[in-house]
Amino acid sequence: MKRELVIVIDFGGQYNQLVARRVRECNVYCEIYSYKTDIEKIKEMNPKGIILTGGPNSCYEDGAPTYTKELFELGIPVLGLCYGAQLMQHILGGKVEKAPVREYGKTETKFDTNSKLFEGLSDESIVWMSHFDYISQVAPGFKSVAKTNDCPVAAAENEDKKLYAIQFHPEVLHTVNGKEILANYVYNVCGCAGDWKMDSFVENSIQAIREKVGDGKVLCALSGGVDSSVAAVLLAKAIGKQLTCVFVDHGLLRKNEGDEVEAVFGPDGEYDLNFIRVNAQERYYEKLKGVTEPEAKRKIIGEEFIRVFEEEAKKIGAVDYLVQGTIYPDVVESGLGGESAVIKSHHNVGGLPDFVDFKEIIEPLRDLFKDEVRKAGLELGIPEYLVFRQPFPGPGLGIRIIGEVTGEKVRIVQDADKIYRDEVAEALKAHKDATGKEADWKPDQYFAALTNMRSVGVMGDERTYDYAIALRAVKTIDFMTAESSQIPYEVLNKVMNRIINEVQGVNRVMYDLTSKPPGTIEME
Ligand code: XMP
Repeated sequence: MKRELVIVIDFGGQYNQLVARRVRECNVYCEIYSYKTDIEKIKEMNPKGIILTGGPNSCYEDGAPTYTKELFELGIPVLGLCYGAQLMQHILGGKVEKAPVREYGKTETKFDTNSKLFEGLSDESIVWMSHFDYISQVAPGFKSVAKTNDCPVAAAENEDKKLYAIQFHPEVLHTVNGKEILANYVYNVCGCAGDWKMDSFVENSIQAIREKVGDGKVLCALSGGVDSSVAAVLLAKAIGKQLTCVFVDHGLLRKNEGDEVEAVFGPDGEYDLNFIRVNAQERYYEKLKGVTEPEAKRKIIGEEFIRVFEEEAKKIGAVDYLVQGTIYPDVVESGLGGESAVIKSHHNVGGLPDFVDFKEIIEPLRDLFKDEVRKAGLELGIPEYLVFRQPFPGPGLGIRIIGEVTGEKVRIVQDADKIYRDEVAEALKAHKDATGKEADWKPDQYFAALTNMRSVGVMGDERTYDYAIALRAVKTIDFMTAESSQIPYEVLNKVMNRIINEVQGVNRVMYDLTSKPPGTIEME
């Protein structure tokens, strides 16, 4: 399948994935590569455009990430952003030095709208700046096409050679015309037509899966989460009865979740997935008995999942292919990342080792960002409430119960969490109905957790000695950093009242204000 490609060369910028996502929002397929990628590989890919990202270094310092000058001589349009812009100027003979005034944040900028990058846009608008260095002199053949009060070269171009350098960050939403600037780059400069669309992705994938699988057997671990659901339905559309989906209920799901997943994907639902539900609750509680250390709990939950899955796979017999729900950020993070410390050993049900006798792994979503997975899900007719679910960790409530997990604690956290989610959803809907807008406190993820703390309280005339529930809600873009969401006090208060009244075993409710860092989103 031939499709247009724009590549992003990553110089360690924090927005590398955002740049690629914005390009894809223009319906142009885009992939990220490290600045260490060989030029020959880039030539082979023959992209329609190349974008150089920002990065934390100064391009004129020894050892700073760089690229061969040949990149700018391929005749392929190159757009440098921030560090990428400075590097382009530095390599081609311009001057980059420490700026007299550091620019950070929203900055009023004047544009030359004769530039193909800024065509059709207003000649003055706000951009997002974040730089210490600046381009004090453009390279030969270039001219400045945007400026701010402190920055004479907020953008520069060499139109003949199709080289563009932008000091600010068009990929960040604070840059008012950022999307339009990137669209101008991919359409006006690179000449892309925009052939990356989710309906054709779905069609092409179905075709490709059929060709690959032939009449082989395929096994898929279905968790009910967005990625595995989309992968399973895609496979089912492609190969029908050759697919078997195994759903392991580990007893650490949200309230009613097992039944909900079964209702949609099971034999009475509208998909034909050869759905097998394994009720492994007791087995999990047994394994987790007495275990309190978070990493040990995570490992047991992951390992037990594999054991259950393995048993099911054996019953089915020779399986040719295994489906994994890998998505593009997983590929980028494992392929480009540095050597960062392992904070938590994440596992999701896709992360299976090669224990079953299968020929190959199928990763139908490995090219997609999360928002694209969602679009593909809608394209496949999966209900919206499943497609727009908030993330739920593979180890489930096991890491939302601090300390030892028991069936009783699972019941408590499930009930409290259900009340919390219902009330927040209702308040969000009421806000939207009243104002026509989403509430600005709308969390990206929210849940209840069971602290292992018990404390004294009074209910009726009786002394109680019960658990404290912690409510967590965060606003985040990438789940790498997060801030607690400012849920209105009345909403929290109502949730507290209901939990205390309705959930036996709880006599205290707390709201977790911690941002990430220093906290993580989950408690363990
Ligand atoms: P933390 O707690 O690391 O969570 O701030 C960041 C995001 O990742 C989710 N999370 C997981 N997802 N398997 C998963 O599939 C895991 O083991 C896991 N641990 C955390 C968490 O819910 C949040 O969205």
